[in-house]
Order: sequence, then structure tokens, then C-alpha cells
Amino acid sequence: MDLFSLQTTLLLFLLSLYFLLRPNPKQPKITGFEAYPLLGTLPDFVKNRHRYLDWSTHVLSTTPSNTAVFRRPGKVRGIMTANPANVEHILKTNFENYPKGTRLISLLEDFLGRGIFNSDGELWRVQRKTASYEFNTKSLRNFVIDTATVEIRTRLVPILQKSAESDRVLDMQDVLERFAFDSICKVAFNVDPGCLGGDGTAGGEFMAAFEEAATLSSGRFMYALPHLCKIKKFFNMGSEHKLMKSIATVHEFADKIIKSRMEEKSENKDEDLLSRFIGTDEMSPELLRDVVISFILAGRDTTSAALSWFFWLLASKPDVERKILNELETIRNRNAKRIGDTYSFDELREMHYLHAAISEAMRLYPPVPVDTKSCRNDDVLPDGTLIGKDWFVTYNTYAMGRTESIWGSDCCEFKPDRWLEKTGFCRQESPFRFPVFHAGPRMCLGKDMAYNQMKSIAASVMERFEFDVQGKDTCPEHLLSLTLRMKGGLPVKVRERCMV
Ligand code: HEM
Repeated sequence: MDLFSLQTTLLLFLLSLYFLLRPNPKQPKITGFEAYPLLGTLPDFVKNRHRYLDWSTHVLSTTPSNTAVFRRPGKVRGIMTANPANVEHILKTNFENYPKGTRLISLLEDFLGRGIFNSDGELWRVQRKTASYEFNTKSLRNFVIDTATVEIRTRLVPILQKSAESDRVLDMQDVLERFAFDSICKVAFNVDPGCLGGDGTAGGEFMAAFEEAATLSSGRFMYALPHLCKIKKFFNMGSEHKLMKSIATVHEFADKIIKSRMEEKSENKDEDLLSRFIGTDEMSPELLRDVVISFILAGRDTTSAALSWFFWLLASKPDVERKILNELETIRNRNAKRIGDTYSFDELREMHYLHAAISEAMRLYPPVPVDTKSCRNDDVLPDGTLIGKDWFVTYNTYAMGRTESIWGSDCCEFKPDRWLEKTGFCRQESPFRFPVFHAGPRMCLGKDMAYNQMKSIAASVMERFEFDVQGKDTCPEHLLSLTLRMKGGLPVKVRERCMV
């Protein structure tokens, strides 16, 4: 019997147990995840994992403090929360008690090694220190803005122009992902894979392998029976076989670059992150590779996911679109600019309404919708929930954006104005109520970089083009990888905007 039929048999067996052991319907309904004797929350998980985010959002909304306990066979036990006080406790106040933990690290280790995204303790601290210093330099900031500007001018705009002439449907999510991949590879190790509009031969293979490795690695978290993944890995079967192949392609591409860069180390004055890591620390080539892969992962799908949802939401909100265009016009007039001119860092900072609209899109569709830590020692969360040693704890950013006690009764509506202060400036939200960029000591390092990139793209695209989003009235299905992508992409017809 192959492993798939084994899994099916086991599931059938467990489902029969479910019918035997299901809770008495006459008993009062318990809030939180439905738990069954022996099987815990497994039956509900299996039934709902295809709509994991909406299911977990609903479950959390039924509990008094937006927190629920999760139990599955195989000693998988944990807490899921959408409660800001709990999030603050986990990510900041009791940070040392909530590392990524061995389970999560081991599931992602084949792909990410011990890069910043996938390490704890001293190994994480060293990388964080070097990276924090570099992310705060003006030169890196300018390099990021210059890189985005070139990609917009020489690739993005020509592609959209061509699409407008042809009247064909374009997958805007795919375009944005290619843009983000080119940009992050430039920033991470000054290599242009040319995935958007370039020749993209070697880069395209690297991007496809990276994509597959990220999706299959995140799939490891979704096994109904966690040990099955280990068995498949041991026998190098199915998705595990594919995963190892894609990881090998990614590693080979990165290793070549790192090797040649280390050889030219002395005369190298590049602005990219790899040069900075080579220049500041004695790191092994493997660790350098892990560092670079973590950065690519961080910068690759996050901004493109955010912008895809932003453009989809905008399609049904002409009033929001108009306000953004007015803001851009004001900034252009104030700074004697014409449409198509590059926006500087200071001009990007003046775009408060656009900043608010992008933040609002990420509130509803956070690029990293859930994030998980492990509990080192027994603890009590601020809402009184007990959490045991080695349990996992997931904060659900997607659910938080849809929680009335945080955002009010209109929490499910797209309203950028909720972000604006009376002065018209976009306000800073507490990262514990809006943990889209994480919070505390492990807060996202690329937040400012991401906003600059997203605002540059949105401004340049919106002032020149209009998108006719196909099927805009139906919410696209989610594709849950490590980031929240749209299943089937974002199909648009592009038109040149007539500016009067
Ligand atoms: C809209 C865009 C982005 C969002 C929503 C976002 C969100 C996040 C989140 C939720 C985390 C925490 C993940 C975890 O460790 O569990 C994180 C970490 C991180 N992000 Fe971002 N990110 C974005 C863009 C970027 C970009 C462009 C970069 C630049 C390369 C970046 C670099 C990082 C790094 C290095 C970390 C790890 C920090 C650490 O563990 O100390 N991010 N980000």
C-alpha cells in the first residue's frame, strides 16, 4: 500500500472514530475549537484546512478573549490567539519564553537552514545585530529605492504599456511577484535574475524553484498526521522528493554567487546585503547562503501579496482611488514633477493617504496571516489562558484584522480613512493590535523598505494606468503558502489612464 492510501485509510479510521466519539449534540456548545475524545481538534481541522483562515477567524470570534486551545494526536497542542494583550506578552514581554522552537525550525531547516528567519538564541542574535545595523543605513535605503525605480521604469511600465495596447488579460499578481523577486535578489546579493521582462533564463528557474520550495515547506505544517511527513522524507517520496529537488536548485544558484563573491571579497564595495555580511562577520559559506535565502524569502512574496490585495480592494472603491490620485497630484505640483518622474524618499514620505490605503489592505489581507512560536516553559497568558511547555502558540493576524473589539463594528470594511489623524497624517498603530510586521525584538527589519517599494510601485502604476480587475466582485480564494497569495492570480485588463 503506498503512503497516500495509507493516509486515506488512517483518515477514514479516524473519521469513523469521530462518528463514534463525537460530542453529544444535546450538550451546550463549547466555544473555541471543537474537541473530540482521543482525536482532539483533528476532525475539524481536516474538514476546514482548505479554508483555514476563515475557519480559525470564526472560531476565535466565538471565544470570550479571542483565544482558543488546539489539540491534535501526535502531541500537537497549542493556543491560537487574536488578542492584542496576549500578542504583546508572547512577542515582547515574555519574548525569551517564546522562541521559534525546534518543531518549526526542523520543518523549515532543509530550505532555510539557520538563516535569520529560522534560528533562535545566539545564532539569531548575531544575524539580527548585523542586519539591523545595515537596514538602518541611508545607503541601503537609497539602493532599495534606486533598484525599485529602475525596475519600474525599464520593466514594469513597458509591460503594462504593452498590455494596454493588446487588450489581453494580465496576471498582475504574477507581475508583482516577478518584480519583487528581481528587486530582492538585487538587494540581497546584487544579482538581477531578470524575471520581469528580462531574459530570465537562469533567474526564472531559480524563482520557480524558490517558489516551489517555499510552498512545499509550508505544506509540511498542514499534515493531519505530522509523522507522515517524516516518513515521506525518509523514503524521499512525493512532495518531499519534489521539495528536495527544488531546494537543491535554490542552493546551487545561491552557492555559485556566494563563492564568486567571497573570492572577490577584498575589492568588493557593493551595497547589497551579502557584501555587508561578508564584510562584517566571518561566516561560513553555508551560513551566508542561509542568510541570503532568508532575506529573499522575506522580501519576495510579502510586498507582492500586499499589493495584489490592495489593487483588488481598490477595484471596488473608486472614491479611495480618486483620493490617492489627488494626493499624488498635490505632491507632483508641490515638487514641480510630471507624471513618470521618479519619487524621492521624501516625496514617498509625503504620501500619507497611500500609506493608509496600503496599511488598510494589509490589515484585511496580511501577507503573513498567521505566525507561530513555541512555548519554552509553562506560562499564563494575560487573558488567563494556561499554556504548557512545548505547546505551540499562533497569533492570527488575519483574524485580528476582522476582530470587532480591535477595529470596531466596521472591521471587515476597507476604509483607509480609519488610519488618518486630523492632520491628514497616517497614524502609527500599536504593533500588538496590528502585528502585520510582527512586533518586539523580532519585528520585521524590512518594514520601511517594503513601504517604500510598495508606494513607489502603486504611485507609478496608478498615475499612468487603470486596471479593470476581472471578476472584481468575488473575493479571490487564498493560496496559503508562507504568505497569503491569491489562488489563480489577479487577472486585470490594463488601460492607459487619461489625465486631464
Ligand atoms: C509587506 C511586506 C512585509 C511584511 C508584511 C513582512 C512581515 C514580516 C513578519 C510577520 C515577520 C516575522 C516572521 C517571523 O519571524 O516569524 C518578518 C520578519 C522579517 N522580515 Fe519582513 N515583511 C515584509 C517585507 C520584508 C522585506 C522587504 C524585507 C527585506 C528583506 C523583510 C525582512 C525581514 C526579516 C529579515 C525578518 C526576520 C526578523 C527576525 O527574525 O529577527 N521583510 N517580516
